[in-house]
Amino acid sequence: MYERILETASWLKERMTTKPETAIILGTGLGQLASEITDSYEFSYQDIPNFPVSTVEGHAGKLIFGKLGGKDIMAMEGRFHYYEGYNMKEVTFPERVMYELGIKTLFVSNASGGMNPQFHIGDLMIIDDHINFFPEHPLRGKNFPTGPRFPDMHEAYDKGLRDLADQIAEEKGIKVQHGVYVGVQGPTFETPAEYIMYRTFGGDAVGMSTVPEVIVARHCGIKVFGISVITDLGGFDVPVEVSHEEVQEAANAAQPRMTEIFREIIKRS
Ligand code: HPA
Repeated sequence: MYERILETASWLKERMTTKPETAIILGTGLGQLASEITDSYEFSYQDIPNFPVSTVEGHAGKLIFGKLGGKDIMAMEGRFHYYEGYNMKEVTFPERVMYELGIKTLFVSNASGGMNPQFHIGDLMIIDDHINFFPEHPLRGKNFPTGPRFPDMHEAYDKGLRDLADQIAEEKGIKVQHGVYVGVQGPTFETPAEYIMYRTFGGDAVGMSTVPEVIVARHCGIKVFGISVITDLGGFDVPVEVSHEEVQEAANAAQPRMTEIFREIIKRS
């Protein structure tokens, strides 16, 4: 696996004309940020050696390099979900490659179901912490030399970046929530009883991504900042059915606010 990571990283390095230290993962329905990247050049996943190819609707599947907030960045449009059938080493392959490319900070975004009764559809939730409910751990197996066998996870989401996000949100009049993201395998949305269970366990939002990527990024010493867009609500007193289309629609409406926060953090940090 390590050889494959190095091979992919060197293929990209040979073609890259910038040296980003910031990477962004664009979640379901959150690809609009890509259109704000200037001086861009890109690679389709299918053209990058060893890269998995994304299959889910709403995920284009390319790496975009360019500038955002005045800095060199790289963005992943389309991520690899466990429910698509990838194993965890494949799901987190891009973060391993990012580390080899010199990425120091990772911005993650996702669409998620809100369980906190204070939340509304379209809210942005700054991820303060997560609960890993995936059935396979991304660090299972031989330890990679990028980090310790038993990595610390007490501040997986960088406190300084979360504080900066609050400051920016206040300045710009953008309402933000804070909370704990529960990562589950999907592909079913939760039953009402499951939403209540995850809420009882301490979660504020639940989704099918992010946690594996964040764990691997942290194992590589990459700082992480994350935003969940609340695209639907779950629980017994929320009788609304969730559909992929609704999730995409709500994400679409929220993405300018998310982009604004990402761009400002990148500019100022
Ligand atoms: N549950 C899990 N994943 C999700 C949800 C949800 O309610 N909404 C968007 N992704």
